[in-house]
Amino acid sequence: MQQVKLTTPDGVSEIVVGELLSSRLQMLEQEPILMIDENVLIQHHDLFEPFRSVIIPSGESNKTLQTVEALYRELVGLGADRSTLMVGIGGGLATDLAGFVASTFLRGTPFGFISTTLLGQVDASIGGKNGVNLEGYKNMIGTIRQPSFVWCDLSLLGTLESREYISGIAEVIKYGFIRDIHFLEYLEEHMETLLKQDLSVLEHVVTTSAAIKTEVVQKDEKEANLRKILNFGHTIGHAIERHKGILHGEAVGLGMLLAARLSHLQGLLSASEVDRVEQLVLSAGLPVSMKLDPEEIYQNIRKDKKKSGEDVHFVLLKGMGNTIIRPIPLPELKSIVYDLC
Ligand SMILES: NC(=O)c1ccc[n+]([C@@H]2O[C@H](COP(=O)([O-])OP(=O)(O)OC[C@H]3O[C@@H](n4cnc5c(N)ncnc54)[C@H](O)[C@@H]3O)[C@@H](O)[C@H]2O)c1
Ligand SMILES: [Zn+2]
Repeated sequence: MQQVKLTTPDGVSEIVVGELLSSRLQMLEQEPILMIDENVLIQHHDLFEPFRSVIIPSGESNKTLQTVEALYRELVGLGADRSTLMVGIGGGLATDLAGFVASTFLRGTPFGFISTTLLGQVDASIGGKNGVNLEGYKNMIGTIRQPSFVWCDLSLLGTLESREYISGIAEVIKYGFIRDIHFLEYLEEHMETLLKQDLSVLEHVVTTSAAIKTEVVQKDEKEANLRKILNFGHTIGHAIERHKGILHGEAVGLGMLLAARLSHLQGLLSASEVDRVEQLVLSAGLPVSMKLDPEEIYQNIRKDKKKSGEDVHFVLLKGMGNTIIRPIPLPELKSIVYDLC
């Protein structure tokens, strides 16, 4: 078992990585209310059935204010009050929703997470961002509030669909590319065993990823600056995700590869380093090529641009393990996208 502490001005969030962590629910001082993903409840019924719970319907289309309202009503029905500990259990969808509900119900109740997907354990459950989509636009409504604990229970990953697991590996690889060359080398050496969910490799990988995300979030919780580097591969990735309807990590894998090629075009990364990016993405079983419509991708990036004015802030690699953020004006971006696709 490993631990990572995330400290912010509002307090400490304790991230624990290991096997069989869900059994800790029985040791909590007060009886919690679980907000649990429906599939996780089906797959791990015996672990969670004894507790009071509300069910989060699976699927991104349920990440809405309507679901939030339904959950509030169920919590009222269960007699939840301001001191009730809420535990969000599931992947990123469930923890984003549960974190938002707990942050707003009665102006905020204490909460923690049990993260049950690889993507959730290395990314979504960490950093305090929570919320829902609005009219198809992702994460438009939300708060930043840290859970008091995140338990990354490795024993639960066995029931995850293999495609979902591999999608999570994309975010893992991302941390190596943007922040930690030694971790990158470790992943190059251990990808095969990671794909087999070897527990000691998995524990190291989840802990290192959580530690990197924690370090970045602690330095810049509100995403004024540094936290933006976590969006490496996501500018084009989000556009591909919407355009192709593939899983988030699959699109981010491709987005990282295209961002690496752009870094090369901008003189920041050598051709052999771009190959290295491609090899690692490929070794994880993630797609490295796909027929993309450049106009579609460009229009999707434009729509996604939201908060940043006229320029798109692109996270590029400046050598392996290092990033630089370049503002790219929209007209220039259009020709770049046409070049890359
Ligand atoms: N808050 C953040 O910082 C942050 C970061 C990244 C992503 N996200 C959000 O995370 C969400 C995606 O998260 P995700 O990839 O974990 O997907 P998800 O939560 O939708 O889970 C994927 C699928 O796996 C199922 N599942 C979950 N755990 C399982 C288990 N142990 N066994 C069997 N099935 C299981 C779910 O029911 C679902 O069908 C998106 O909504 C995204 O916006 C948030
Ligand atoms: Zn992501």
